[in-house]
This record gives sequence, C-alpha cells and structure tokens, in this order.
Amino acid sequence: VIQDVLTMIPGPTPVHERVLDALARPTTSHQDPRFVALFRRCLESLNVLAATDRAQPVVVAGSGTLAMEMALVNLLGDADRLLVLSQGYFGDRWAEIAAAFGTPVELVRAEWGEAIPPERLAGLLANGRYSAVAMTHVDTSTGAAAPIAAYCEILRGRDELVVLDGVCATGALDEPFDAWGLDVLVTGAQKALGAPPGLAILWLAPRALERRRARGRIPAYAADLERWLPIMSDPSRYFSTPPVNEIVALDAALGIALEEGRVPRFARHARLAAALRAGLAGLGLTPFTSPSWLADTLSVVLHPEGIADSAFRAAMATRGVFVAGGIGPLAGRCFRIGHMGNIASEEVCRVLHVVERSLADLGIHVRDGAALAAAAPVLAGQRPATL
Ligand SMILES: Cc1ncc(COP(=O)(O)O)c(C=O)c1O
Repeated sequence: VIQDVLTMIPGPTPVHERVLDALARPTTSHQDPRFVALFRRCLESLNVLAATDRAQPVVVAGSGTLAMEMALVNLLGDADRLLVLSQGYFGDRWAEIAAAFGTPVELVRAEWGEAIPPERLAGLLANGRYSAVAMTHVDTSTGAAAPIAAYCEILRGRDELVVLDGVCATGALDEPFDAWGLDVLVTGAQKALGAPPGLAILWLAPRALERRRARGRIPAYAADLERWLPIMSDPSRYFSTPPVNEIVALDAALGIALEEGRVPRFARHARLAAALRAGLAGLGLTPFTSPSWLADTLSVVLHPEGIADSAFRAAMATRGVFVAGGIGPLAGRCFRIGHMGNIASEEVCRVLHVVERSLADLGIHVRDGAALAAAAPVLAGQRPATL
C-alpha cells in the first residue's frame, strides 16, 4: 500500500486501494439482494479468519470500544463478577465498562510493558469466583502481547466466560476461536483487518448466546445482541440501518486477508515486526516493552535521551510518515509505530528510513542507512523472524 502520506499509527492502518474502491461504490439499500449476499459472505469470512465454525459473528456500526461494551452489557449484570487481566490502558477499559454498568469487577494489572503470567491467572481462579475473565491480546498502550493461549488452557472446561479484546491483534495474530475455547472475541475494522474505522465486530460462542438469552432484560437497547442476532441470520431484515459502505469495504478487506491466507498473514506480521525491531535496534533505539511480550502488531519505542516527542513526530510528519505518541504515563517518553494490516516490507523500510533521518534532523548521530542495513537480512529471510 504505497500512499503519499504513510499512516503508521496503531490504527487506523493504511487502507488498501481495493478496499478504498469498495468503500467508494454507490450506497445501496441495505435490503438490496446483492448487499444482503455480500453481508452474508462477510460474516462467513469473519468465521474463516477466526478459525471457527461455531461462533456467531456480529457486525454493527461503531468501534472496538462499542464491541467491548456490547460484550459486557449483554453477558454480565450486578450479580456477576468480572476478572480483568490488564496489561495497560485498554485492559483497564474492560474494568471501566463493567463499572459503568454496575458489574462487580476485579482488576488485576501487570506492570506496564509486561503481561500477567499464566500462573497468576491460575492462582486467581483458585481463590476467587468469577462469571467471566476479560483479557486483551495486545495492549496498544504498552505493546505487550498477553499469553492468551496459555490463559485459555487454564480456563478450559471451566464455567467462566472467556472474553478477548483482539482490537490490536485480530487479523495479524492467530486467535483460533474454537481451538482456544473463546466465548467472545471483539475487534474493530481499522487495525489488523485493514478496513477504515467505523465497525464493531464480535464473535460469540453458543455458550455466550445462551448466557445472553438467560438474562432476559438488559440495560441496553441498540447494543442488545438479541436485537441484532436476527439481522445477522438474515441481513435483509431491519433493526437499525447498517453502515452499508463500511460493510462493503470490510468484505473487500476480508477478501484480501483470506486470499493471503491466515497462516501466511500471521507469518508476514511476524517477519515485518522482526525487521522493524532489527532496524530500530540498528539505530540504537530500544523498545519500552519487555522482550518477553513484544507484540507483532505495534512497537512502543523509547525516545533517545534529549529528544522531544513532539519535535520527533513533527520531523517524521514533515517527511510524510505519521507515528503515534505514548499514552498515559508513556506520553512524551515513547513513540508508537503500528505495523499491522496490509503493509509490506516497503512500508517498514520507509518508516525506518524516516525514523533515521528524523533523528539525524534532531542532531542524533546515526550512520546513514544503518536502519535498513539492520532490517534487510530479516526481510530477506537470512535472519529468523523471532528477533
Ligand atoms: C487493544 C485495544 N482495545 C480497544 C481499543 C478501542 O478501540 P476503538 O478505538 O476502536 O474504540 C483500542 C483502540 O486503540 C485498542 O487498541
């Protein structure tokens, strides 16, 4: 995806031309049979991507936060207790949403840059009673990827619902819904799926749907899954107008993802992340994130001594590349590079070159071409993608 301005923030990510073309198609009736067929295909593609044949996918206008809220408000009430495993700002959001609806919550936080070790979850489950466990695959604030497969292994066969925020992971990191035994997976369109922002996406296991049904009335109307499920079974029905163009764009983005294939797509993300890290290391830059938990979807990078975040990011922007600043306690200390969706080695090389030149602009001594020289062997497959 070569574009004049390269948006390498952790979402929205660069949108492929095919997806932009799809977005620009004439708006049709949501009951147009062609749109209805496309919506059905889109839902099927979501299940292929999540490696599930038992989940009910749901797509509504909104964003990742709405998908998180829908998950909690539909499944939990004040008689429940939610355990939140948080490794940052977005993990904490699970607890904030639960609190907004009066659901009792226990928030367990990792140090920023770390993730909660699976043994800690085992200990919590041994001593507490919870209706659900909410977790974040990759926390975009810290760049830490949690060991979700290991958490799921501990939760296997238990009663707690397993609720996963995949907003900064789904479509880039493997999240095999059935094999992991997930009950709910949520994401947004604008990150690793490579579609424009504007959609909340959920996958729900039969157990989660039963839990919703058993609850009867819930304190939600437009976010009530019971109102949306008939539409997902038959998109020609109406509850609330679907974002037609967004769904057409999502279908195109999913088409790209499935043409690439799940496994090659995950491998590409691993290779590009390793190359980017190697290039940054070649410039003497270090990740904020602990090496054990580095995510393949974004990098949170410490600014070198004496570099002001605003000046650095302005220098990057002048050269046409947008990266994000740090969040919360990392504001001013770090910058964040998103590397997910439909990017290729071209984008990784461009961002590395521009980081190098921007540091040079700001008076940091860097060897010409050092970043690309360090990244090239990884891109060429001469060094393992496990850096
Ligand atoms: C891990 C994670 N969860 C949730 C969200 C919230 O998603 P949205 O901004 O689409 O509401 C984000 C957004 O960056 C995120 O990175």
